[in-house]
Amino acid sequence: MIQPDTTLLLGFPDYAPQARALAVALGAPYAEIEVHRFPDGESRLRLPGRLPPRVILCRSLDDPNAKLVELLIAAATARELGARELTLVAPYLCYMRQDIAFNPGEAVSQRIVGRWLADHFDGVISVDPHLHRVPDLVTAVPAARTLSLSAAPLLGEFAARNFDRPLLLGPDEESAPWVEAAARAGGLQGAVAHKERHGDRSVAIRLPDVEVRDRVVVLIDDIASTGRTLACAAGLLYARGAVAVHALVTHALFDPDAERQLREAGVRSLHSTDSIAHPSNAIALSGLLAGGCAEICARTAEET
Ligand code: R5P
Repeated sequence: MIQPDTTLLLGFPDYAPQARALAVALGAPYAEIEVHRFPDGESRLRLPGRLPPRVILCRSLDDPNAKLVELLIAAATARELGARELTLVAPYLCYMRQDIAFNPGEAVSQRIVGRWLADHFDGVISVDPHLHRVPDLVTAVPAARTLSLSAAPLLGEFAARNFDRPLLLGPDEESAPWVEAAARAGGLQGAVAHKERHGDRSVAIRLPDVEVRDRVVVLIDDIASTGRTLACAAGLLYARGAVAVHALVTHALFDPDAERQLREAGVRSLHSTDSIAHPSNAIALSGLLAGGCAEICARTAEET
């Protein structure tokens, strides 16, 4: 249970509408951190002069390098200004895909950034963090309380509402849990393809043995970055006779060329959650995140 007199939600300008919506869903007051960028690239942050004991910082960590430094400055300052219990809500959690050294000498950034966040926050909440070689969020981010939420049921409900009896298709084995949860929530059929990645912008996909002729197919994935995964899957589906291919993703990272890739592959529509601000945002996460904050708050009360 969130207590509005002892809790404050703090947002940053680059994720303010989503952070404000979370504060409304939580029934907590909201304040925005002022960020001034000096000509040399450094940042000056300004928080409210006094803070209540419980502070929730909400910022998504796409394009993360500068955001991480500001986040850690904000967290340390929040402690100095009175916060005793600090929770980070990062709908998109960065560096989760660099979870092993793929080549000798490579940094395992997931572990390093995770440890860094855990040193500053008591609680960390994220949505569908990319955890494939680690069992859970606390292994990647060893904070006292962590919570990994999933937007997959919201994607499934969206697909059921907006498309005509679609087949949900995950482009690779890693997407299997999301496709399963989305299919269950939407009462839809789901299937998963096989993918091999040959480089940042090069993937090969093998479709599963499922009939797609004359069907509407909705591709479901956690992340779309270069768009190559979705574009490649769409091309194969049309070659097999699919009548329309749409895409639904949790985290719309999208590099500048991604949307062209999808258009050229014939992807008819692209929708995403608002974990990362993007024109394709169609599914708000505020309700899901508010439930997560309430759960972390209850766990804190039990444990302290
Ligand atoms: C990787 O396994 C993820 O689930 C996504 O499929 C991947 O990040 C998409 O990347 P891109 O859009 O660059 O193909």
